[in-house]
Amino acid sequence: MSNIIILAIESSCDDTSAAVLADGEVLSNVTANQAIHERYGGVVPELASRAHQQNIVPAVETALQRAGIEREQLSAVAFTVGPGLLGSLMVGVSFAKGLALSLGIPIIAVNHMKAHVLAHFIDEPKPSFPFLCLTVSGGHTQIVKVRDYLDMEVIGETIDDAAGEAFDKTAKLLGLPYPGGPLVDKYAQQGNPKAFVFPQPKAKGAFNFSFSGLKTSVLYLVQQKMQENPNFIAQYRNDLCASVQDTIVRYLLKKLSAAARKHQINQLAIAGGVSANSGLRAAFADLGKQKGWQTYIPQFQYCTDNAGMIAITAYYQYLAADFAPWDLAPQARFALPKALE
Ligand code: KG4
Ligand code: ZN
Repeated sequence: MSNIIILAIESSCDDTSAAVLADGEVLSNVTANQAIHERYGGVVPELASRAHQQNIVPAVETALQRAGIEREQLSAVAFTVGPGLLGSLMVGVSFAKGLALSLGIPIIAVNHMKAHVLAHFIDEPKPSFPFLCLTVSGGHTQIVKVRDYLDMEVIGETIDDAAGEAFDKTAKLLGLPYPGGPLVDKYAQQGNPKAFVFPQPKAKGAFNFSFSGLKTSVLYLVQQKMQENPNFIAQYRNDLCASVQDTIVRYLLKKLSAAARKHQINQLAIAGGVSANSGLRAAFADLGKQKGWQTYIPQFQYCTDNAGMIAITAYYQYLAADFAPWDLAPQARFALPKALE
């Protein structure tokens, strides 16, 4: 008989996801993607919020059904409280509160960035503490030092664009639809990563990142080459994707290596949407072998936004009796604590 059964909801951006967990084990994880944003070349907040309203009930019903769990068996309802788009967060928060109130059970508010890190505790092998996690998503790029399930701090982060944005903006420049990251990954597999050289970005702070200059470099190169050859993008799409991806991956891993060395930690993890990137996964695993690290890479379904990671985080919060007050509002900006250095 299970003791702790949690329904978790994720609605921070453009994926509506619901998951059910029993005693630390994720039983179901159902995600509805929102294709509506493709035609606009990015997430339109108002449309995202409306799509969450349409998707949330079917996602929750399917997650409960697949887990073989009735609402009455739930111990708590968890939700992403932030960071994210306010209108999107609001849908998950309101739904979770309504359901929990009607069942007479507590609510658990989960930080989305913490959840990306704790996605590593859904499946085996699980990292041991302390470990460093490079969280790379559409909105964030950070290196997190994880001391315990609920004790982590950011030791470095991007000062401008996120790594996912660098992928998506490059893709847009090349005429690819949103979100471009997975497409850049796909075309990069057939391209030459050394075909074009982009300068490695620079950011103040040993473990900080900057990505805004990279998209400008890509833009200048493309504009210049198009003057000589109007077919340049179509002809060199694979090489462009491979070269940009290679620049991003090398940069991310250079900073992660420096952090591992400085903090003397050899347990390293990657998380977030960009950790689904095949180039990053392969380079990270190779580097780990070279350096003698233990490396942790989540399953694909737990890289991009998903409620499974919210459920596992909520489980540890439940064990710590970390429940949310009923009047808690979503927090568009909800940063993890930063290391004082
Ligand atoms: O974690 P996530 O699903 O949402 C946020 O919290 O932002 O990350 C989404 C980001 C997008 O920028 C998307 O293009 C990128 O992850 N992404 C990828 C890949 N799959 C998703 N980037 C590169 N290669 C991929 N295979
Ligand atoms: Zn995310």
